[in-house]
Amino acid sequence: MTVWTRQTILRRASAADIPMIMEMERRPGYDLFVGRWDDAQHLRNISKSGYLYLVHDGSEGLPIAFAALSGLGHRDGDVLINRMIVRTPGTGTGKLFLRAIMSLAFEGAPTYRLWLRVLPDNLRALHVYRTQGFRDERVVPNGGVRSDGVRVDLLLMSILREDWDARTDALEF
Ligand SMILES: CC(C)(COP(=O)(O)OP(=O)(O)OC[C@H]1O[C@@H](n2cnc3c(N)ncnc32)[C@H](O)[C@@H]1OP(=O)(O)O)[C@@H](O)C(=O)NCCC(=O)NCCS
Repeated sequence: MTVWTRQTILRRASAADIPMIMEMERRPGYDLFVGRWDDAQHLRNISKSGYLYLVHDGSEGLPIAFAALSGLGHRDGDVLINRMIVRTPGTGTGKLFLRAIMSLAFEGAPTYRLWLRVLPDNLRALHVYRTQGFRDERVVPNGGVRSDGVRVDLLLMSILREDWDARTDALEF
């Protein structure tokens, strides 16, 4: 039996992972829910201060989930999950991956607010975030532009350190 921990789930991505990450961003239908960066943008981000690219490797050693965090190390403790994607939705990977990210952000860094932006019609993502303790903050009307150019509302969600500290459920991976 594999005993999953945050350390076994999360690996810091390197530039060599970018083609796989870009392939995940471009899965059919994902354009409705997540943005797409080109390789130059990924290369800039991956080496930017405060950014952390994380992947979860599947059984074949290739990334099956990706997230880009930013804001790490800033004095306000606001850490943004810029992007979160799994290769095959609906198999439990996203929940596991998000739990590992939350554990890293709150136990491995002085994060006060872990936040993200989600499209209000991304029901699967909303379910995952809410069931893992994220709360709705506010909707930004026309706050984002989808990759097809359509302007869309964005829901801001967050979990604060006090919510994290108050969790009574064991964080199972
Ligand atoms: C959003 C995403 C990261 C979630 O990861 P995932 O691996 O698919 O999620 P899981 O399989 O761990 O969990 C899915 C949950 O959503 C529920 N769900 C699925 N479809 C749903 C729907 N239409 N409405 C409500 N809940 C739904 C499932 O029942 C499951 O909940 P449960 O474990 O309580 O039963 C993934 O689907 C993804 O990459 N989607 C495309 C890109 C994207 O939208 N990224 C997020 C941008 S903010």
